[in-house]
Amino acid sequence: MKDHMLEIVEVAERAALACYDWIGRGDKMAADQAAVDAMRTALNELMIQGKIVIGEGERDEAPMLYIGEEVGNGSGPKVDIALDPLEGTDLTAQGKSDALTVIAFAEQGNFLNAPDVYMDKIAVGPDVPEAMIDLDATIEQNLKNIAQAKACLITDLTVCVLDRERHQDKITAVHAAGAKVKLIQDGDVNGVIQAAMPGSGVDMYVGSGGAPEGVLAAAALQCIGGHIQARLLFRNDDEKARAEKWGVTDLDRKYATSDLAKGKILFAATGVTSGSLLDGIAKVPGEAWTHSVVMESETSSVRYISTKHML
Ligand code: FBP
Repeated sequence: MKDHMLEIVEVAERAALACYDWIGRGDKMAADQAAVDAMRTALNELMIQGKIVIGEGERDEAPMLYIGEEVGNGSGPKVDIALDPLEGTDLTAQGKSDALTVIAFAEQGNFLNAPDVYMDKIAVGPDVPEAMIDLDATIEQNLKNIAQAKACLITDLTVCVLDRERHQDKITAVHAAGAKVKLIQDGDVNGVIQAAMPGSGVDMYVGSGGAPEGVLAAAALQCIGGHIQARLLFRNDDEKARAEKWGVTDLDRKYATSDLAKGKILFAATGVTSGSLLDGIAKVPGEAWTHSVVMESETSSVRYISTKHML
């Protein structure tokens, strides 16, 4: 995996650069399409036998980067790929902060074949033992455990939550326990990463978001450390049937980090708009600068890369 470190960054960078012209133009579909096209082109130039495991959706609903699509030039190692070409389509369209391009590589069979349904998530950093968080425990109990692990008070803790009506009970519970809430408009891959990044000011992530984003977040945690626990959420029988199609037999299963992503992993993200994790694209006449993070599980390395692109 380590051999592909610069290549994976370049894939994320090219997707981000392709989004630039769509920042703040109110067209999230066009922004997403630009990222998808650029990511696919970049992937097809790599010497890998790549297979999309987490992608833009199932073959009949996504023309490109669909689950099962083969990418790469067909030589080199077999690589499973999880991606979200533009994490924060609305953020980009609205010119708001924190939009990212995101991609992860793993050896064959090491990402969960997650259906595109919602997923309940709770995540913490490496300084909290995995057994101390539980989706089925109350917010207060989880916060008590985290405070104990970090030897601090609950009032010192901050919980990142996606700003959604469905999370109101969780937000109320965090406040009632005495902790602080950091609301984000979109982008729960970044929300989970913040919970695990030292110095981010976030101690826990809770709430429901996309299952594909849960797998991507777990890939990042396998590199930086930290834990996520997750459970698929189904709104109807059709979603349950889709999950069964992807081999999910226990619909209520609680997934640990290594159930979502395991083995040797590479994870990269590039900032589209500036945010808490990365700066966005900066353009001056003739050149553009991108800012990326690349993480690798074998050595737990986290590298920040700024790249100048001649236009
Ligand atoms: P996209 O921009 O890729 O569509 O996703 C943004 C996002 O905020 C994810 O990070 C999150 O998992 C999901 O949407 C939450 O879904 P919803 O907006 O339906 O609550």
